[in-house]
Order: sequence, then C-alpha cells, then structure tokens
Amino acid sequence: MRVQVAIVGAGPAGLLLGALLHRAGVDAVIVERHSPDYVLARIRAGVLEQTTVDLLDEAGVGRRMHSEGLLHDGIELCFGNARHRIDMKALTGGKHVMVYGQTEVTRDLMHAREAAGLTTVYDANDVSLHDFDGARPKLRYTAGGATHEIECDFIAGCDGFHGVSRASVPASAIRLYEKVYPFGWLGVLSETPPVAHELIYSNHERGFALCSMRSLTRSRYYVQCSLDDKVENWSDAAFWDELRRRLDPEAAESLVTGPSIEKSIAPLRSFVAEPMRFGRLFLAGDAAHIVPPTGAKGLNLAASDVGYLAGALAEYYGGSEHGIAHYSERCLRRIWKAERFSWWFTSLMHHFPETGAFGQKMQAAELDYLVNSVAASTVMAENYVGLPLEH
Ligand code: APR
Ligand code: PHB
Repeated sequence: MRVQVAIVGAGPAGLLLGALLHRAGVDAVIVERHSPDYVLARIRAGVLEQTTVDLLDEAGVGRRMHSEGLLHDGIELCFGNARHRIDMKALTGGKHVMVYGQTEVTRDLMHAREAAGLTTVYDANDVSLHDFDGARPKLRYTAGGATHEIECDFIAGCDGFHGVSRASVPASAIRLYEKVYPFGWLGVLSETPPVAHELIYSNHERGFALCSMRSLTRSRYYVQCSLDDKVENWSDAAFWDELRRRLDPEAAESLVTGPSIEKSIAPLRSFVAEPMRFGRLFLAGDAAHIVPPTGAKGLNLAASDVGYLAGALAEYYGGSEHGIAHYSERCLRRIWKAERFSWWFTSLMHHFPETGAFGQKMQAAELDYLVNSVAASTVMAENYVGLPLEH
C-alpha cells in the first residue's frame, strides 16, 4: 500500500488528524493496535476548549457535540467547607468550555471516517516504523497472519504514551521531561444526575475530589488516592462516603449515588518529549506529552497538535515546507503553557503530606487569594478555557 501519510493510533489524535487531512485532500491510513470497541471503552475526560470544538467542526464531526454537549460558563472551587465559583465567561470576555465525553468525540470521529470510506486497520500487531530519517518512510505491521508494508511520505505517531512511535526515535535525538505525582485518581462513572450544574474541584485535608459529568444523567467523580491503592479496596459505598466527606455540606447532602458502571485508578504525571519531529516522523498527542488530568488539557493538546500538523502537511503538498519546519516549536509553546497550568492546578488542589502544615497554609492562602482577586481568577479562567492557538 502507498499513502501520503501513515497515522499510527486511532485515538482522538489519530482520528482527528485523519479527518482534517481528508478535508485537505491528503490521503492517509490509520493503523491501530486494538479493536474499535477497545478504543471506545477507554474512559477519559471530556472538557473541550473552544479551539477543540472549532477543529471538530472543521473536521465535520461537530453535529452531535453541539446537540448533546453541555456549555459551561464557570467552575466551582471547594475549600474550607464552602464553594466559590470562577465565572470564566465574565472573566474571559465570553468564553466557555464544552462538556462532551472523549468517548463520544472518538465515536463521532470513527463513524465519520467509516462513512467516508477511509481506511483504518484495527487489530494491527507488531507495528514498526522504518526509514523516517529519509525521504521514503515505511510502516510495517502484521494482521490476519500476514505482514503488511505501507510506503508513505510521512508518519504521524498518534499512538499515545505507551506507543511505538516515540520509542522508535534514537535516545540521542530526543529529550524527555517528566514529573510523577505521589498519588492517583480513583474515578467512578455512574448513571446518576450530576451533583451540580458545573464542575466542582475540591481541596480537602483528606485529599482532592472532583465532581464532573458526561450528561445530565451520567456523572463522573474522582477522589485522590494513594499510588498503592487498589480498585478492589473500594466498594461503591466506600467511594460515595469518601466523596461526600471531601465536599461542602450542600453538595454532600444533594449528591445522588448509584452503582458504578466504571471504576478505575489512574496515576498522574507531567511529561514532554522534545522535539516532536524526527525527519518524516511527527509525534502528536499523548505520544509526545502527558498532563495530570486536573486541568483537563490532554484531549485539547492532542487536538491542537493535530490541527497544526494537518495544516503543515496540507501546506507541504501545496508547495511550502514552512509548516512542517515549525511544527515542533509551535506545538511545544502551547504544550509547555498547558503543562504549567496543569502542574500548578494539581499542586494547588491536592493533599501533599510531605509539604506539612506550612504547605497546607500556602494552599489555603493561594485559594483565598485566587477567589478574591479578579486578576488571579482571570489567570485561572483564561488558562482553563484554553489559551489562543500559537501562530
Ligand atoms: N500500534 C498501533 N496503535 C497503537 C500502538 C501501536 N504500537 N500503541 C498504541 N496504539 C494506539 C492505542 O491503542 C490508542 O488507541 O494508539 C492510540 C493512542 O490513543 P490515546 O492514548 O488516546 O492518545 P491520543 O490519541 O493522543 O489522545 C490523547 O487520550 O489518553 C487520553 O488523556 C489523554 O485525553 C487525552 C487523549
Ligand atoms: C472528567 O469529566 O473526566 C474530567 C473533567 C475535568 C477534569 C478531569 C476529568 O479536570
């Protein structure tokens, strides 16, 4: 097979890149290790910045998002047994976020790709990348008992943190930056109405908690837990009780509980690989960076990466190499600002026993300043709704 672009990974980054390239008349194939059901079963955050909403519209997959997604003008910070609203819309001159689950974004992109008759190879094993430091890169994989080769002009590594693309780059050619946080998030999905109209981020001495949602009938909740905690240690009742203890009295009282339909523990890390281009191989999304989920930036960074990459590749086929030459630096300017915000918000909202009583006083003082200063709230708001795209 020969294509212009071979995409590794059919998560949000790979699928959105494929859709944007199709719109630009660039032919691409996606090679995915797992099945469509496996990809859709991954539960991930669902807070979309306007730049992500715009890219999904540009890709032609925004219809269901606009009809089923929830527009949120603010978030609430809970500390000292009280909730404080950050009015993001007022503080950012009218901006908001769209709450629409990543699973639904992925489903919409999958269906659109299938409807357009575009090729996605699922259940591809032993994917390997070749000759991307030259002009004729190749992708090889096994499927159905046979080995297949794809000749292409470019490879897009959209295969996530544990993918093969970044691992195929010589160690001498790449710099890695990483911070692992000393706790995890225990998450529960339930067919229950959300406890509040907007998301609640709680700083509590027992640990962080987050009240989020997928719709008006499906809720997503998290509590900070220790890294050696196990899902099997947490009954639904124990989870609901712990969540209540980390919320203000009104939220604790109005929380509607029910059986968990998904329960899992995820670690938190900050990670960036530099650069993001290696000859004819481009990294995008989680393959190049990871953020702690506190700031809900993971999907949004994946979207802006592939928005830049799709434009750069379309420019290349239009005769200009400017976009591909500046892809990495353009992505990284946006990535590092989102990494900073995600690290800051994580450091502010979680319980760090190692920082002691002084550390907790610093958090309390910063939260008091944040909710009582227009300047501080504006900084929070403009980062949460998403900074402008880099040019
Ligand atoms: N070969 C082919 N496909 C692979 C390989 C491989 N060797 N390794 C991984 N994949 C696939 C995975 O099965 C997955 O479907 O690549 C896809 C990567 O998708 P994600 O991990 O979701 O990464 P990305 O598309 O960048 O989306 C980032 O997803 O994980 C969340 O929080 C993250 O919201 C962010 C978003
Ligand atoms: C979620 O809904 O899963 C979610 C929302 C906001 C976050 C993290 C996760 O910051």
